Amino acid sequence: MNRHTPLTLHVNGATHLVAAAVDTPLLYLLRNDLALNGPKFGCGLGECGACTVLLDGVPTRACVTTAKVASGREITTLEGLGTRTALHPVQQAFIEEQAAQCGYCLNGMIMTAKALLDRDPHPGVETIRRELSRNLCRCGTHVEIVRAVQRAAELLAAQAAAQAAALPAAQSAVHEGVRT
Ligand code: FES
Ligand code: FES
Repeated sequence: MNRHTPLTLHVNGATHLVAAAVDTPLLYLLRNDLALNGPKFGCGLGECGACTVLLDGVPTRACVTTAKVASGREITTLEGLGTRTALHPVQQAFIEEQAAQCGYCLNGMIMTAKALLDRDPHPGVETIRRELSRNLCRCGTHVEIVRAVQRAAELLAAQAAAQAAALPAAQSAVHEGVRT
């Protein structure tokens, strides 16, 4: 009999206490206990990438990651990237490029692309292809998906430039406020 153990999961900035057998796949806890259905169950064998989450920022297959391994670490799921009204640039780019058919692989594609762009804001096509090569898309949407990652890099660069431009204005407003 599997004994249930109290575990702490840090997911998308919130802390959850769950009781589970330590070898329970993280994917089951996310979907069944926390109602986070962004990560998908595909193969259940660590092969397809549909269940990908970020564990301390690293793309990780939640179907073959145990609750014990994930406990105490920072877990980010698709739900932790953006909201319906404020999409993350990677999500926005996938919509703009219409990079989906059935959509089942998208969770893994988006989470893997997010981790890539965090590490390398300007990846070349070959790098994007290599990074996504272990994420399977049975619909053959690869061309659009690669274009979406390139578009996401552009959106992130524009966002960073806008933030850098806004900073001096904010600083001078603070100084003006101090003077008056
Ligand atoms: S469901 Fe996890 S890799 Fe396929
Ligand atoms: S869009 Fe269907 S599996 Fe990728």
